[in-house]
Amino acid sequence: MSTKDDTPKGMRKGLTSYGDAGFSLFLRKAFIKGMGYSDAALDRPIIGIIDTGSDYNACHGNMADLVEAAKRGVMLAGGLPIPFPTISIHESFSHPTSMYLRNLMAIDTEEMIRAQPMDAVVMIGGCDKTVPAQLMGAASANLPAIQLVTGPMRTGSHRGEKVGACTDCRRFWGRYRAGEIDDQEITEVNDQLVPGTGTCGVMGTASTMALVTEALGMMAPGGACAPAVSADRRRIAERSGELAVQMAAAGLTPDKIMTEAAFENALAVLLAVGGSTNAIIHLTAVAGRMGIKIDLDKFDALGRKIPVLVDLKPSGTQYMEDLHAAGGLVTVLRELREHLNLDCLTVTGRTLGEEIDDAPTGFAQNVVSNREAPLFAEGGMAVLRGNLAPRGAIIKQSAANPDLMVHRGRAVVFNSIEDLTRRVDLPELDVTKDDILVLQNAGPKGAPGMPEAGYMPIPRKLAEQGVKDMVRISDARMSGTASGTIILHVTPEAASGGPLALVRDGDEIELNVPDRAITLHVSEDILAERRAELSVPVHPNSDRGYRKLFLETVTEADLGCDFDFLVPVPQATGQADG
Ligand code: FES
Repeated sequence: MSTKDDTPKGMRKGLTSYGDAGFSLFLRKAFIKGMGYSDAALDRPIIGIIDTGSDYNACHGNMADLVEAAKRGVMLAGGLPIPFPTISIHESFSHPTSMYLRNLMAIDTEEMIRAQPMDAVVMIGGCDKTVPAQLMGAASANLPAIQLVTGPMRTGSHRGEKVGACTDCRRFWGRYRAGEIDDQEITEVNDQLVPGTGTCGVMGTASTMALVTEALGMMAPGGACAPAVSADRRRIAERSGELAVQMAAAGLTPDKIMTEAAFENALAVLLAVGGSTNAIIHLTAVAGRMGIKIDLDKFDALGRKIPVLVDLKPSGTQYMEDLHAAGGLVTVLRELREHLNLDCLTVTGRTLGEEIDDAPTGFAQNVVSNREAPLFAEGGMAVLRGNLAPRGAIIKQSAANPDLMVHRGRAVVFNSIEDLTRRVDLPELDVTKDDILVLQNAGPKGAPGMPEAGYMPIPRKLAEQGVKDMVRISDARMSGTASGTIILHVTPEAASGGPLALVRDGDEIELNVPDRAITLHVSEDILAERRAELSVPVHPNSDRGYRKLFLETVTEADLGCDFDFLVPVPQATGQADG
């Protein structure tokens, strides 16, 4: 029996439909030869390289260099690199919020990988939503794929102090709001927070996604931490191109790498690095594309075993460039070894365990603690449940105030982001430091797009009294660079009629993080009365286009906020537990 693989490769893949395959190939080659390619070049394995450069996106400002280095790697390994664009998303240039566009980028990525002839793909992303979008697209296209990130930015310096986006952005802005620094200083620091290209240099979503993607096995070993403007970053790009050629030859598709066990590794790393709460939504979405359900209760149980080991802002004090100097992710993986599934395959075709064993030797450093002396005894995040969040809510406990972990207070409710903006700083707002701020209608359908509005500002009159933290609860997300006692992703969201929509000013709410509980102390009878009067928010301009698609098909946080029609059918119709 012949073992010959007759699947079309390279230029012969996915021919445009003209009803005559020979003519389709003839025409395709005629057009690409217009750019000067020879038949010999076109006979090589073709490696697509996704270029997400954009003049709106400083996080991807080194894209041209990385594309060049990845092309070099592909050619050194005998392939033909063909870069192509997809959309690019930057956090600060995406209205209403970048999360609103993540699924659009995932569709773009998946369909362009499918539509164009390539045997493997190098996906270059970096800014928060781009890596999840690319992994989601690659998972669904299931072509050999390797993730390359643009890498973190270096730190800047303000009046002798090291600063970096974006924990310090929030810290300085908080000080400005409280009247501690003046207009001149806030302008000065604005020049220093992003001193060059690359992704945010703290343990925000971009850094977290880079680290969990390496742990997942979808990135060249050692690929997560090298700064955007370093020779290491370019070498990683070259290596990624080389690996893509090998993956094409071996048929190493995402379904062989992104297994349930690999997602467990990613979750262990998410906890140990004190990563962004956004990553749990993104990992849920990527896993969902593979038909894998991330179980929040299992994640919480893992969090009780895995401590935070990495001393990076906002949970700690340092920056990604320091983690790179400390050896990068493998320094963390060594400490986590007993919690990892070491047999998981990576993009190298070798297992995670083999890659850890063969990594450069560890050395004394002060960024990654050992297991016996962790930064925080439990994992960075905890999952809360209760009558206020029947399908779960998240708190980043490592970046919260220990004194507020058990707290009961009076609700001060804002029914939308606009309401919050309008009233939070009013001198007459009835609020004290012991109250609990509640924001409704900021979830996937509510805002829409589940913006990072969960980091509600401390009301100005309290900020001016020196109040730095309060319990804040919402169905929104929070930037990974932010900190505070902030409960996020309350599910079901208010706009879907979740209990969060039923909270009124003056209600008593109780938070108990050690017990993983969040309770609204209002009787069922009163809640039923309020439920009967509830109306769903109506968004303007939602009767057509992407906004209509988004509002009609986006799932809730516990399902990754993917569109229901993009996940395999069994999950698309399923609801989360609880
Ligand atoms: Fe792009 Fe922070 S804004 S990574």
